[in-house]
Formats: sequence, structure tokens, C-alpha cells
Amino acid sequence: MCQDNKPLLRHQGKLLRNECLSDSTNLLTIKAPEPARAARPGQFVQLKTSHYLRRPIGLMSVDREQGLIQLGIRRVGPGSNELCDLEPGIIVDLVGPLGTGFDLGLFDEDACATAPAHLVTVGGGTGLFPLIYLLEEAAGQGITTTAIAGFRSQTEAILQERMRATAKQCIFASDTGGLDFTGHAGEALTSVLDTLSLRPEQILVCTCGPVALLENIALQCLERKIQCQVSLEARMACGIGVCVSCSIPVYRRDSGTKTADNETTYERCCYDGPVFPAARIVWPSQGGIW
Ligand SMILES: Cc1cc2nc3c(=O)[nH]c(=O)nc-3n(C[C@H](O)[C@H](O)[C@H](O)COP(=O)(O)OP(=O)(O)OC[C@H]3O[C@@H](n4cnc5c(N)ncnc54)[C@H](O)[C@@H]3O)c2cc1C
Ligand code: FES
Repeated sequence: MCQDNKPLLRHQGKLLRNECLSDSTNLLTIKAPEPARAARPGQFVQLKTSHYLRRPIGLMSVDREQGLIQLGIRRVGPGSNELCDLEPGIIVDLVGPLGTGFDLGLFDEDACATAPAHLVTVGGGTGLFPLIYLLEEAAGQGITTTAIAGFRSQTEAILQERMRATAKQCIFASDTGGLDFTGHAGEALTSVLDTLSLRPEQILVCTCGPVALLENIALQCLERKIQCQVSLEARMACGIGVCVSCSIPVYRRDSGTKTADNETTYERCCYDGPVFPAARIVWPSQGGIW
């Protein structure tokens, strides 16, 4: 701890394990007690590599008692390759936990929070990782969960056992078949919502993945009046809300329809997010992000 009792953000963690989940994805287990104690689902850490900027990676799981954090990393370039190639025993320089994560509460008009009766998570690709932490947290709070995970093909479907052990119901989806559901994760969500015999206000949907998937999920939920939170990715520099390089367009008010009295502004993905209420995002079809 620093002198004014605010937790320090920069930590040295020891890499205990580095497991290959597939040809392109690794799972790192790092001993980092302080970030593990402070972390919340949906937050991320910035990892130092030999390259100029730190690389942001979402927390995939946290064991507060053992002081462990887990990170799932896909190889997409020099920084992530370096992280996937780290040898156990090495000291990892990380900053975090950072950002505003998921909120496992449903808010009524008086802004009173109640836990959802049912949490549905929808993850695409590496978007699966932060949702595992959320599912673990929800299970600990006794919330019933359905996890949907979309992959390009059966061979890319990772972490199936882990997800089946965590969520009450689990649906692995792929356009090319061979998994539980043939079609994309958005279509799997439609079929789940069609069969859930709950009122919309009892359901919370949380999603992370490619923007096209997030928009699909967000618009479905808006139409059904189901609360939805989305975790976004943006290119980041400082990661702590100072440089504004990660700003994204959002509606000023939580309505999701673009009207004259519903002006847009910008918020920082690293600090105000990465998790936002879906209704606040100006989606591509509305002339917004990406
Ligand atoms: C909040 C947050 C959480 C993330 N969580 C994870 C995670 O859990 N697992 C994981 O594998 N990846 C995650 N990412 C993405 C990860 O940060 C990038 O893949 C990584 O920084 C790429 O670095 P690189 O040097 O390997 O590739 P680069 O050569 O820098 O880029 C390769 C490709 O990745 C894209 N990219 C690079 N940096 C980012 C970035 N910051 N945000 C979005 N796209 C980027 C580039 O546009 C390019 O297409 C997250 C990103 C953010 C912002
Ligand atoms: S990365 Fe600097 S403000 Fe978000």
C-alpha cells in the first residue's frame, strides 16, 4: 500500500504456469496477491513487454485466497506472442486491476440494485475470457447462469470443460457445426431468450467479443427491454484515463435511440469502461464505433 492507503497499481507477479489452450491461445497463471484481492470481473491489467506500450489483457479468473490471477491470451502480434512465450518462474510487470467492470445488479427506476434471477453471458473468440470470471462470481452469489460461447469452428472451441463446470447451462456455437448449436452466438442468444420463462427485468445479459457480435446482442436486448452490459476493446496507451486515446462515442443518456435530446459524447474505454451499459454505446449502424 502507498502512504495515503490507496492501493498501488504497479505490481510484480510471478508466472506460475503457462498452458497452451490451442495453437494460438495460452493461459497464464500469475501469483499476484494484491491485484487478485482488488479485482472485479470485467477489469483488466496492462502487461509490460519489450515493446513500447503495455498490452491490455482482461482478467479471466481470480483466486483471492491463493492470490492468483489467470489471463487468456491470443497470439495476434509481437506483444501477445511475447506474453504467450513467457517461461514459468519469470517475473511479470503488470499494472492493475484497471477499469470499470461488470455490475451484477439490475437497476430499477430509483437506481436500486437487485441481483438478476438469470445471467446470460455471450462471448465470441477471446471475449470468452473475462466472462469466465463473471460466471464464477455469479455462481458464488447463487445467480443462475447460461453461458453462450461462439467460435469460428469446432477446432477453435477452447475452455469447454471449464465453462461447463462454471455455468448452469452452457452452449457452444459455431457456424460450421460440430458443437451444441449451429449458427453464430447471437442466434444462440435469440433461442435462449425465446425459451426463458422469466420477465425481461429478471434477466441480465453480459457480452464480450467482436463489435458486430456485441451490436447484435445489444440490439436484441434493447428490443426485448433486457438489461445488457458490453465489454469493449479499444487501442490503449496509458490505461488509466489520462491520455484519452481510447475514447469511444456514447449517448449522453441511457436510452439507445438517437434523438435530438439524446446527444453523443465520448468516454474513455480504459477508465469509464471497458464495460458499458449496451444502451449507451453508439453502435456502427448508428454511425458510432468502428
Ligand atoms: C480492455 C482490453 C482487454 C483485452 N483482453 C484481452 C484478453 O483477455 N485476451 C487477449 O488475447 N487479448 C485481449 N485484448 C487485446 C490485446 O490487448 C491485444 O490483442 C494486444 O494488445 C495486441 O498486441 P500485439 O503486440 O500482440 O499486436 P499488435 O501488433 O499491436 O496488433 C495486432 C492486432 O491486434 C489489434 N490490437 C492491438 N492492440 C489492441 C488493443 N489494445 N485493443 C484492441 N485491439 C488491439 C490490432 O488492431 C491488430 O489488428 C484486450 C484489449 C483490451 C483493450
Ligand atoms: S488509454 Fe489513456 S485514457 Fe484510455
